[in-house]
Amino acid sequence: MTYAELGPDTADQTNKTSVRWWRRPWIVPLAFLIVAFLTFSLPPYLSLDPSRSRVPAPSDFPLYYPLLVLHVLCGSIALCCVVFQIWPWFRNHHWTAHRRIGRTYVLAGVLPGGLAGLILAANTPFGPVIKVSSLLMALLWLGTTVTGFVMARCGRFVEHRRWMIRSFALTCSIILNRFVAVTVFLVLEPQQKTTFAGNETWFVQVTAGITGWLSWTLTLLLAEWWLERRPYPADRDTSHLVSVSTGKGG
Ligand code: HEM
Repeated sequence: MTYAELGPDTADQTNKTSVRWWRRPWIVPLAFLIVAFLTFSLPPYLSLDPSRSRVPAPSDFPLYYPLLVLHVLCGSIALCCVVFQIWPWFRNHHWTAHRRIGRTYVLAGVLPGGLAGLILAANTPFGPVIKVSSLLMALLWLGTTVTGFVMARCGRFVEHRRWMIRSFALTCSIILNRFVAVTVFLVLEPQQKTTFAGNETWFVQVTAGITGWLSWTLTLLLAEWWLERRPYPADRDTSHLVSVSTGKGG
């Protein structure tokens, strides 16, 4: 059973109980953070000039830079889509758009962005700790998103919501990553000559590794806490979705 088959009745049912968008204070700061992140991150890669890249490409892997640009563009598509997908008011009022943007999120955002991320991770210039972190993160990003997509196609909307909240958390962890990176740098930088014995490579790899692991594990833990706290949306009765997908109920 798909969203289309659930039809306008479902949308009407959810409309009655939906909360007005301006009463959801988190959607505006989230959109602001995404716009700010993209304004800062995208320009160097839109120029297609490798010398402006913030990541030094390994000299023995010529495909690194094109894959990095692809990854950044697809990651940006995913970030732009996810803000609409997670927004309850938008979901409740625009079912058709939710389905279309959802497909774009998966097919033009996460799938190509995650596959490129996997290859970049395997060839990272920032050492083995961030390599393991990024490989696992890419696999989880692809895994949670594909599972959420398949659940929606099967009409299992309660599971769809759970897996897509995890996918959303991983997509947005890139934003937390920038704040964590600055914090870790500020904490460790004064220890360059002591803890790191003046070795800059060691310093960069430890900073990148701690940042990578902390960013996505914290965001995923937050998502799990949210799912435990609110197993079902507070503003929405999903029992009709469960009964439609299982064929039980009236
Ligand atoms: C969620 C799974 C993701 C994984 C596993 C991942 C992985 C990677 C990897 C391996 C690199 C190369 C640098 C390195 O070796 O550490 C990279 C760079 C980059 N990624 Fe991602 N990424 C993900 C999501 C995203 C998203 C959603 C965006 C949004 C646009 C994004 C934007 C970027 C940017 C801009 C860079 C270049 C580094 C910079 O300019 O600061 N990534 N990513």
